[in-house]
Amino acid sequence: MTLAAPNIDRAATPSFHGASVEIRDLTLAFGDIQVLRKVSLNVAPGTTTCIIGPSGSGKSTLLRGINRLHEPQSGDVLVSGRSVLKDKPDALRLRIGMVFQHFNLFPDHTALENVAMAPWKIKKLSKSEAYRLAAERLKEVGLEQRAEHRPRYLSGGQQQRVAIARALAMDPEVMLFDEATSALDPELVKGVLNLMADLCRRGMTMIVVTHEMGFARKVADQVIFMDEGEIVEAGTPEQIFDNPQSARLRRFLSEVL
Ligand SMILES: Nc1ncnc2c1ncn2[C@@H]1O[C@H](COP(=O)(O)OP(=O)(O)OP(=O)(O)O)[C@@H](O)[C@H]1O
Ligand SMILES: [Mg+2]
Repeated sequence: MTLAAPNIDRAATPSFHGASVEIRDLTLAFGDIQVLRKVSLNVAPGTTTCIIGPSGSGKSTLLRGINRLHEPQSGDVLVSGRSVLKDKPDALRLRIGMVFQHFNLFPDHTALENVAMAPWKIKKLSKSEAYRLAAERLKEVGLEQRAEHRPRYLSGGQQQRVAIARALAMDPEVMLFDEATSALDPELVKGVLNLMADLCRRGMTMIVVTHEMGFARKVADQVIFMDEGEIVEAGTPEQIFDNPQSARLRRFLSEVL
């Protein structure tokens, strides 16, 4: 897999100043089901952490605990040293961008409107400034020619790139990706992974739940293996993929590689 980023206008691509993320003893339950058990993790500014693990191991719940789509029971998450518990959840969503498996675009709005909406309505930029910013973000993801298209006239890969542009338009300090390429046809996966690799090179802090082991190996600064609500192993891609320590990780890798 090559991870060069074609179609992207580099002249228009500023660097990011990704924040640090510190997860401390995060515990989260749904009723009686304990889903995260004292999870701790450090993510340095401008680095990419990939989270792998079996279905139901708590990967999505961990991401959702970071931006409080699910409220933790105990523990804390510090973004740039500031506890997420101190911010109102809405304010937090300005600082932490999230991209989902299903793109969740507004179907009755064009790509440009989808990207401009939050800067205009939530961040309260003027309408013209929000649209100018949205056009820039779409250009960065190689979609300036598609600005006036509604989602149903875009491919899945293009829709996901609009969703990424939409998250970037809020100037997030951190980007969370939850299986951003899982719903895409195989031939569209590469374009989205290329874009994610490009954000990584430009200094965004990214936490990426993925089944794309090639991406994790190539792009991640650290790889986290979760099972049953715990981090079982953490390390460099070489440590995790070439030298797994636990029987659980060895079994998982034998199933997915
Ligand atoms: N809203 C919810 N209410 C109750 N239980 C939930 C909820 N969301 C997740 N769970 C449970 O929490 C556990 C972890 O789920 P989670 O979605 O975090 O797993 P995952 O690692 O992301 O799995 P997958 O790879 O299938 O996406 C599962 O047992 C799941 O059934
Ligand atoms: Mg999940």
